[in-house]
Amino acid sequence: MVGVYKECFLIVVLSLLLLNTAKAQCGYESCPAVRSSDYINVHIVPHTHDDVGWLKTVDQYFYGGRNDIQHAGVQYILDSVIPELQADPNKRFIYVEIAFFERWWNEQPPDVQSAVKELVAQGRLTFINGGWCMNDEASTHYNAIIDQMTLGLKFIDDNFGSCGRPLVAWHIDPFGHSREQASLFAQMHYDGFFFGRLDYDDKKHRLKETTMEEIWHASPSLGGHSDLFYGALYNGYGPPGGFCWDIHCSDTPFQDDPRLFDYNVDDRVKDFIKAVKDQVKHFKTNHIIMTMGSDFQFENAHTWYKNLDKLIAYVNKKEEDTKIHLLYSTPACYVKHLNEADKTWTTKSDDFFPYADAANDFWTGYFTSRPAIKGYVRQANNFLQICKQLEVLGGMQKTGSSVTLKKAMGVAQHHDAVSGTEKQHVANDYAKRIGMGISSCESVVNSVLNNMMTNGTSRPPQGSFCGYLNISICPSTEDAQMFTVTAYNPVAHMVHTPVRVPVNGNSYTVTGPDGKMVSSQIMDVTTATKNVRRDRGKAMKELVFTAQVPALGFSTYMIATQSNKVMQKLKPHIHSQPSPAETPSADADPTISNEHYQVIFDGTTGLLKSITELGSNTNLQVSQSYYWYNSSTGNNVSHQASGAYIFRPNSSEAFPLFKDSVDIKMVTGDVVQEIHQTFQPWLSQVVRLYKGQPYVEFEWTVGPIPVGDHFGKEIISRFDTDIMSDEYVYTDANGREMVQRKLNHRDTWKYNNTEPVAGNYYPVNSRIYIMDDKKQLTVLNDRSQGGASLKNGSMELMVHRRCLKDDSRGVGEPLNETGQYGDGLMIRGKHLVTLSIPGMAAAMHRTIGEQVFMAPSLMFAQGESDWASKYKTSETLLMKDLPVNVHLLTLELWDDNTALIRLEHQFAKGEDADLSKNATVSLKGLFKSFDITGITEISLGANVALKDATRLQWKTTDSSTPTPPNTMPLPVNMDTMDVELTPMQIRTFRCTIKRK
Ligand SMILES: *[C@@H]1O[C@H](CO)[C@@H](O)[C@H](O)[C@H]1NC(C)=O
Ligand SMILES: [Zn+2]
Repeated sequence: MVGVYKECFLIVVLSLLLLNTAKAQCGYESCPAVRSSDYINVHIVPHTHDDVGWLKTVDQYFYGGRNDIQHAGVQYILDSVIPELQADPNKRFIYVEIAFFERWWNEQPPDVQSAVKELVAQGRLTFINGGWCMNDEASTHYNAIIDQMTLGLKFIDDNFGSCGRPLVAWHIDPFGHSREQASLFAQMHYDGFFFGRLDYDDKKHRLKETTMEEIWHASPSLGGHSDLFYGALYNGYGPPGGFCWDIHCSDTPFQDDPRLFDYNVDDRVKDFIKAVKDQVKHFKTNHIIMTMGSDFQFENAHTWYKNLDKLIAYVNKKEEDTKIHLLYSTPACYVKHLNEADKTWTTKSDDFFPYADAANDFWTGYFTSRPAIKGYVRQANNFLQICKQLEVLGGMQKTGSSVTLKKAMGVAQHHDAVSGTEKQHVANDYAKRIGMGISSCESVVNSVLNNMMTNGTSRPPQGSFCGYLNISICPSTEDAQMFTVTAYNPVAHMVHTPVRVPVNGNSYTVTGPDGKMVSSQIMDVTTATKNVRRDRGKAMKELVFTAQVPALGFSTYMIATQSNKVMQKLKPHIHSQPSPAETPSADADPTISNEHYQVIFDGTTGLLKSITELGSNTNLQVSQSYYWYNSSTGNNVSHQASGAYIFRPNSSEAFPLFKDSVDIKMVTGDVVQEIHQTFQPWLSQVVRLYKGQPYVEFEWTVGPIPVGDHFGKEIISRFDTDIMSDEYVYTDANGREMVQRKLNHRDTWKYNNTEPVAGNYYPVNSRIYIMDDKKQLTVLNDRSQGGASLKNGSMELMVHRRCLKDDSRGVGEPLNETGQYGDGLMIRGKHLVTLSIPGMAAAMHRTIGEQVFMAPSLMFAQGESDWASKYKTSETLLMKDLPVNVHLLTLELWDDNTALIRLEHQFAKGEDADLSKNATVSLKGLFKSFDITGITEISLGANVALKDATRLQWKTTDSSTPTPPNTMPLPVNMDTMDVELTPMQIRTFRCTIKRK
């Protein structure tokens, strides 16, 4: 009787326990119990790493198509994991890439969906990171990172609520880690950040010094608010050697029936305990994390889980003796225990670039790889912001939406997408998705602008867009006698933007939105442009003028050939006539100038010779030219070749791409003055000064890179100056804050200079500069590139590369983009160069930078002689411009009556005497077309209200107070709606709006 009673009691207790488990909450509340501090707790984290495209396209990976290329099918992974989780409340699984999860979710019947919701609500299936993809950190722009994170996090929030919210960021595969990425994660309220790849030598030191886990000070401007706990994973992102139980692995399973042959429990347990002991000595607490999984693993989850179950059971059976306790866990639960361990953590303030996995293997090639995709992604980001803004201002449109482009861009930020490390057919797939997204957004932009231009009942003709304006192709203008250009400016400040449109006539009048003539200039289409154009487009001329476009608004310019009578009636004065192209004589130094700069070229060599900034009378002796590195194919030091990931020149010398002199031509006029340089039949450059623009524009056209000599080539543009830069160079992180770099130096360990060129390359996403105490030379770029300063006064950017050998990091193809015409890709891009007094430059660069990544979009329409009297020709959607130091980072529709608004202080602390001060913007009555009736401040990822967003606090060796500070901005006062911003701060709001 007693016995029976006991059993009953046990059953009651057990079912109570089970009930408790079932009711267990999510987040940290759902973390499994651990043993006390005299035990080593091993957090077993089952996971899969699912690339959003790499060797196969994202859809091929999802369905498991083209398994001949790589066996991988993400749908089966989720199909397989879910029942395993359902069968055992102890099991855990983390999932990262929402691009895949959404595809899978959309195919699930309601009962599976609700079962999955239950698993998430109980913390058994946990989203980690939670962006659309696991983005690259070297070639991404912060705007696109924030967008792709927001897209993924919104999906999670919409479907799973707060229990779905990822607490930890997870970049286990990206090839180096930027400081800005850490700062953004901190601002998204993550409690921790894990990654797998760091420099081999750095890792060696960190293991020795127990600094694999630290607090990252990720922004000098944001201070503690950008502090983030990070952990470099011990074993990359794989399991310890010998313990991979995926169907793709061949490690020995547990063979635990003593009646059968090859019983191995004791051996397996012994080996695992050794792995635990090897690892734990490099870490600070009695907790360690083990990543049990890898690329596309868990397609048959049972093989993994069955062996992990046994591993846990057999190791834990001996725990009284070994003091080692294994548990299914998650990175978030691991972070929670580290936090509770109450240690004082060391800190880091630099970044993890560049990444090398061996002495001669620097992953600095991908900073430039696939420059066309990198440029396209940047342009698409620009257009996506415009598309989203117009959806808020004009409401959802009947045709087109931003969703296609949002998803395409979400996929394109992946660490094998914009990075350029995917196979060619996958690169084509990314471009196609972006192309479809752009086309859908064109419908939105067209229809909203068309509505805005409509005056009473007179609606202007539909517009069209020209995607090939950079090579002077635009069917809407090429043969038109009369057309309009409508520029929409997504920046919350008025801009003056140069407009170039392909035409065939010899003289045009350009009438501005106010009916006044605007000076314009006709230029010949250059041979270089015709070469890139090949058989497309037929314009022989370009019409150039400067458009003035109001903040968040449009301006329409009316253009007509001068023979057009209607326009002639209006013509008040003769505008500029171009001077014919002239070849300067050898003894005169060709010179171009505008209000800001005088730029002199050497009459003998044809190369740039000096730049003078006229305002401060600062002169720079500078030569600029193009050089090439010979891609290594391996040598007796290392077999490492240069390829998609890795940059390895076969000597430190960069060879000039000109002999003695370059051909030059000068073209001058009222709007623009240009020097055309031809370095090679396949390499040319236009250096231009637009009237009024505070920069010197270098437009380069590079390719097809000739490889007939069987040498891979990596092409750089290099500036050699008289600046005493003292081996320092400054590069931006993801387009936001600047990071100081010193030649052959790393902040946190003694650097062994094994690759003098590649080891000094850094990502340049928006700008790079060198300076001394008198002057600063800055180059702003239009896409991400690798850049370096290899000697004093010198600064180089890699613009294009073509390698003939694979670099053995898995992509299995040489980076040899042959392009649509088969002979090699031609790349055209821009470097905007400024010269300034140090400390005076920021105002200019932030403003120019804003206009580079947020350029106006141009829409064309058939002209009508009385356009200006019939339609609206200009409109701003802001009641007033934002302060110069504030950038409107996001304006997008969240749901029908809600807009997401992000305001960003675009200056760093101390960068500018005036503009680095706090800024205040009032959201009250800011927008013309709607009122804001409610404001909720949310985290940067837009998935948690700030009032509910607490972060774990940490003690650090360099501060007496725990970080991050648990202070938050005061709620926005609804009377004034004033928002104050500190330097580099981004504040995110969900605003209910009422359209007027
Ligand atoms: C530096 O690298 C070279 C080449 O790999 C190696 O032989 C040498 O031992 C390294 N020096 C140090 C101090 O690590
Ligand atoms: Zn990956």
